[in-house]
Amino acid sequence: MTKPFAAVIGWPISQSKSPRIHGYWLEKYGISGDYLPIAVKPEDFVTEVQSLPSKGFVGANVTIPHKETALANAAEATDRALAIGAANTLVFLPDGGYRADNTDGEGFTNNLKQNAPHWNAAAGPALVLGAGGASRAILYSLLVEGAPEILIANRTKSRAETLAAEFGDKITVIDWADISKATAKATTIVNTTSLGMTGQAGLHVTLQCSPNTLVTDIVYTPLQTDLLNQAADIGCATVDGLGMLLHQAVPGFEAWFGTRPTVDETLRQIVLA
Ligand code: ATR
Repeated sequence: MTKPFAAVIGWPISQSKSPRIHGYWLEKYGISGDYLPIAVKPEDFVTEVQSLPSKGFVGANVTIPHKETALANAAEATDRALAIGAANTLVFLPDGGYRADNTDGEGFTNNLKQNAPHWNAAAGPALVLGAGGASRAILYSLLVEGAPEILIANRTKSRAETLAAEFGDKITVIDWADISKATAKATTIVNTTSLGMTGQAGLHVTLQCSPNTLVTDIVYTPLQTDLLNQAADIGCATVDGLGMLLHQAVPGFEAWFGTRPTVDETLRQIVLA
């Protein structure tokens, strides 16, 4: 049997951490395979993806700007990819085409389960900051995990309203100006915006939550964001955003290479290096 290949497809692609993640697992599990970054312009996406199976590729991750196009051109799609409206993991099908999945929400949830084992989405309302692609995946996962209510705030309020209309009546839109006040009500608080990332503006929020609250951030540069530091100072459980990136890679690796990999400290260090 020829050795299976997988890829990550994006434009640009040099910043992607995925080759490090999958490269580590291929070596750790002694699997003969390869995982390659491929830079593909938006207009070339469909033809490039069609050409991959004949070159030995069994599937691919897709990243910005292809996530919506990847879903739109799929032969099959998982329920979660359809609900999130974007795909990040493709598995080529024997009869042509591919199945599109979105593993970002699973990555979000499994990161919390691994690093905050007592976290329970059903324990109370969640507060989600941001209404972009990451927010969609996280809203989906919080609902699957049983969150009874989700407050969402976004600088551009209309984007949050669009998500609320799509994801149903458990979602309540609040004003961006009210986020500090809303933290008092939440048992799960998630920053899905780019605020707080190195080089970006800061996230200005004053946490008023109880120490039972879990606070997490999708930003992982820096690993300990100001939000997480503030949360830790008042005794909240915190989980950094690197694990979401690592855990979202698990289902793809399993589908392509046949082994479900684990996220361990060595992997974290390799991706941080
Ligand atoms: P992603 O797919 O990573 O979620 P995105 O769709 O670009 O990326 O979403 C980025 C999020 O960060 C949005 O919620 C965005 O708010 P807007 O919808 O108002 O743009 C939020 N964001 C980015 N910069 C921001 C800033 N300076 N202040 C407040 N929110 C910001």
